Amino acid sequence: MVNGNNVPGRVLLVGFMASGKSSVGKELASRLGWDFQDFDPVIEARAGKSVSRIFAEDGEVEFRRLESGVAQELLARSDTVVASGGGWPAQPGSWKVVPEDTLSIWLRVSPEVAVRRASAEGSTRPLLDGEDATDRATALLIAREASYRRARYSLDSEQYGPVELAGEILNLMVPAR
Ligand code: S3P
Repeated sequence: MVNGNNVPGRVLLVGFMASGKSSVGKELASRLGWDFQDFDPVIEARAGKSVSRIFAEDGEVEFRRLESGVAQELLARSDTVVASGGGWPAQPGSWKVVPEDTLSIWLRVSPEVAVRRASAEGSTRPLLDGEDATDRATALLIAREASYRRARYSLDSEQYGPVELAGEILNLMVPAR
């Protein structure tokens, strides 16, 4: 997992929508002096439109195709904290592109809290739009949980905020002697 200094080449954050991947990732990157990369904004820049519009106009299959290309590219970088999209770990073959020297972390959140946070952030997540969002989030989380479990560690993202979680991840990167 690590180089001679015991430091991973990159950190990969996975977890459900609104689990805090972006806020934790930014905090961690700034404390490490590393670059931060988030799948969705890169996908949006490439497509020239928002994730919501990609889903509405081109469909989820096209979104996943774009996402897979961006994942491969961002995960090849070093000294980078990478926040994946919430659905990416569950796509076939996704974990195969994660380099060995990657510290992967699953940020755990319940469907209820994810939906509450997502609705507070506005309608940017097509899979949580509309009626019965909590039921759909529950079903998605159940379907995806095994893929999130492939991360090396998991942290509770409901009880702790970005500053504490980034601190926890730093501790995992440089174990106390
Ligand atoms: C998705 C999660 C979103 C975004 C898209 C699909 C998913 O990313 O990629 O709306 O399938 O869970 P966030 O996890 O950053 O919200």
